[in-house]
Amino acid sequence: MKALILSGGKGTRLRPLTYTGAKQLVPVANKPILWYGIEEMVAAGIKDIGIIISPETGAEVRNKTGNGDRFNANITYILQEQPAGLAHAVKVALPFLGDSPFLMYLGDNLIQQGDLSYFLQEFNQQQPDALILLRQVSNPSAFGVAKVDDTGRVLQLIEKPKEPPSNLALVGVYFFSPIIHDAIAAIQPSARGELEITDAIQSLIDWQKQVVACNLDGWWLDTGKKDDLLEANRLILDTYLTKSIVGDVDTNSQIIGRVQIGANSQIINCTIRGPVVIGSGCHLENCFIGPYSSIANNTTLIDTDLEHSVVLEGAKIIGIHDRIIDSVIGYRAQLTVAPRRPKALRFLIGDDCQIELT
Ligand code: DAU
Repeated sequence: MKALILSGGKGTRLRPLTYTGAKQLVPVANKPILWYGIEEMVAAGIKDIGIIISPETGAEVRNKTGNGDRFNANITYILQEQPAGLAHAVKVALPFLGDSPFLMYLGDNLIQQGDLSYFLQEFNQQQPDALILLRQVSNPSAFGVAKVDDTGRVLQLIEKPKEPPSNLALVGVYFFSPIIHDAIAAIQPSARGELEITDAIQSLIDWQKQVVACNLDGWWLDTGKKDDLLEANRLILDTYLTKSIVGDVDTNSQIIGRVQIGANSQIINCTIRGPVVIGSGCHLENCFIGPYSSIANNTTLIDTDLEHSVVLEGAKIIGIHDRIIDSVIGYRAQLTVAPRRPKALRFLIGDDCQIELT
């Protein structure tokens, strides 16, 4: 059994974060989204992992993630020159996949820990041509959607339909036997110009091959947008964070609940109410940090009140009077109050940023 993680693509929905980096490397609880998937695969016993990368962000994904040693896995990087679709990525990966059955995992998806092992077992036991995961969603038009009969048999799969036949979305985790390569060879690009894996699985259904659908009961997040990212952050902190304080905390500070503070971080006169993770090399002074916040390495927060937010590496937040909530502050972003007059707001805001002032 091999695994193929799709970590190419353009990442337009997480702009502006993805102007400067791969969306699969955006951290959730201070760890790149992509790494959760790799760890789950290794835990399920799959160690031979191929990662699809794009020319734009491939070097960054490769440099950060490495050859797999840190995960006890063997990682092969596969360049996809164009984001020509999920099925196209499988085509490009054919020399790596050979005639092995494989798990295909979209690098921006997160599923609940332990679920992957369970579905792998199902696949190995039932030995179908494909096993797909379905989950009820409130906005099916944003996904691949399945039409199933009363017994749960899949009748039809449609990619991002305007009028969805059900609210059952295709989760970005699929198990395939090598026959999927024949199905991919038989499909044409969709209206949006991509070779869709959804269409390839539909071909398997049309050929009367065995496509098994399992319902995913645990949580699933496609971290495509800001709110999804905050929700993923909340879930991961809620479920997995354990208390660990390595950095310096002065006697005027109060640390409440599950809080992690990394090496060489200084916490001065702060109240931190977990679950909160703070990376290494951070400086926090006169701050209140509320639940469900992740603060990455080398950030500076002074006179700041923040909750349910993600602050990325190198950001600085100083002296903002209002509480910051539900926010994602990008790499090296600076949010400060200027002492000079006239009293006014001064911005240097990158493309596609969203600022909400009251
Ligand atoms: O998240 C679940 C959904 O994922 C499914 O319900 C849909 O059926 C499926 O098509 C897919 O839709 P998305 O619009 O979310 O796919 P996206 O373009 O975001 O790509 C998913 C991942 O695959 C992402 O990590 C980027 C990567 N990718 C994408 C394309 C188009 C590649 O590596 N190469 C590509 O050519």
